[in-house]
Amino acid sequence: MPHDRASGAKPAGPCCMVIFGAAGDLTKRLIVPALYNLACAKLLPSEFAILGVDLADHTDQDWQQSLEAMTADFVHHGGQSSTVNQGVWQWLTSRMSYLKGDFNNPATYESLKSKLEERDAKQGCGGNYLFYLAIADRFFATVVKHLGESRLACEDDGHWRRVVVEKPFGHDLPSAKELNRAILSVLREEQIYRIDHFLGKETVQNIMMFRFANGLFEPLWTRDRIEHVQITVAETVGVEARGRFYEHTGALRDMVPNHVFQLVAMTAMEAPNSFGADAVRAEKAKAIDAVKVCNPAEVDCMAVRGQYGAGEIAGKPVAAYRQEPDVSPQSQVETYVALKLQIQNWRWAGVPFYIRTGKRLASRKSQIAIKFKEAPYRLFRDTPARDPAPNWLLIRIQPDEGIALEFGAKIPGPTMRLGDVRMDFKYEDYFGAAPATGYETLLYDVMQGDATLFQRADNIEAGWRVVQPVLDHWGQNAPANFPNYAAGSQGPAKADDLLKRDGHAWRLVD
Ligand code: BG6
Repeated sequence: MPHDRASGAKPAGPCCMVIFGAAGDLTKRLIVPALYNLACAKLLPSEFAILGVDLADHTDQDWQQSLEAMTADFVHHGGQSSTVNQGVWQWLTSRMSYLKGDFNNPATYESLKSKLEERDAKQGCGGNYLFYLAIADRFFATVVKHLGESRLACEDDGHWRRVVVEKPFGHDLPSAKELNRAILSVLREEQIYRIDHFLGKETVQNIMMFRFANGLFEPLWTRDRIEHVQITVAETVGVEARGRFYEHTGALRDMVPNHVFQLVAMTAMEAPNSFGADAVRAEKAKAIDAVKVCNPAEVDCMAVRGQYGAGEIAGKPVAAYRQEPDVSPQSQVETYVALKLQIQNWRWAGVPFYIRTGKRLASRKSQIAIKFKEAPYRLFRDTPARDPAPNWLLIRIQPDEGIALEFGAKIPGPTMRLGDVRMDFKYEDYFGAAPATGYETLLYDVMQGDATLFQRADNIEAGWRVVQPVLDHWGQNAPANFPNYAAGSQGPAKADDLLKRDGHAWRLVD
């Protein structure tokens, strides 16, 4: 668990959590391990119950058992202790029950209602219900509609009803707007928690602390001092078993309007008036709103797509995307995307933000790299000191979480020689490495009613608005040369040209 929580936070208030998609992968891989971590940190209330809903046949017991292996795996790889704490696991499972049901059938919601009332009476959850939609996106609007019709979403007796919506939130701008319209016809905005798991990462949350809790950096954080910004979310994994999903999604939809734009917004936003949910989200929406929406003719100059061919990752041969399970051998879907963004406001005019994300790249690395302008005058030009290296600020999101500053320093000795040095802060050195799924903070915040780390309707739509012309242009023009980068490489050569044209170069993904 994050340390600030473990060291100071109180348990959340009474509630009952309903997981739609209880037999699915997300529940096993992330939600239940996160609940286990919250229970270990004593941040769940004793008046707590979990009700899983799904189509699969399960008894309470075998549902609980089906979850234990993944939690054990998570705990084992988390490194702190090698086995699940049985006392905590039993505390959690004694509160878990399962309901088989079809999300399309109104009868499911009637059964859910009686089960909830039963659990509530037993556990004292205060009538507060948290509905988690860990289901395929085609069911989001349906489930919300039924929650409305069955009055399960109704907050009329002083209790709260909140709904967590997973990604993908829409497939493009029109579908995202339609989904917002559909769920807002049932729920108030304050009841909706659109989750983006990047915001559960400590390093992402820290961007705001770094910028706004320190007096040092903000005066440098402008077009006067910053030359350009590079945001990289590079993965070594391929599409794994998600070929079917990915064939309809691609890297742009999967990563950019959500995760990568969160990083852009955190980097580019103005200081909010307060740390309140609406103040923060308003500034983030403003930052993405200021990104220039290009016209179709400009897409080829500001966007590059790629697809991996066969190659090597960590010395082992890996297959091309087109050879992955459930992927068409002629697939035109992109597994890599790079964009040049222009943020049209006073702070950022003329400072390009280059973003890139891709699968099967040389290394796993998510980082915000900020390149500062050179010193105004080359004082050492008549000495043996070569041109000074540029100053970079590197915010490492994952792995090796930390922040580094690169600058030049005099190499000791009688002559004036300049060396490149780096000041490096690592989270692990200061705070240790706590195993967390990233969902702990987010789940706790929903229980506490704190929406700061969740996406509002306007945040979502602002992101889709920026990528829509690229989606349209790519949808109408098939890529000529896929696959165009080898697995284990830096990505397609054209992505290098995107920066070269402006006199810049990507930092290596190493
Ligand atoms: C998910 C995407 O939202 O984020 C995946 O669907 C991607 O394709 C993943 O791999 C990356 O998240 P993380 O936390 O592993 O960096």
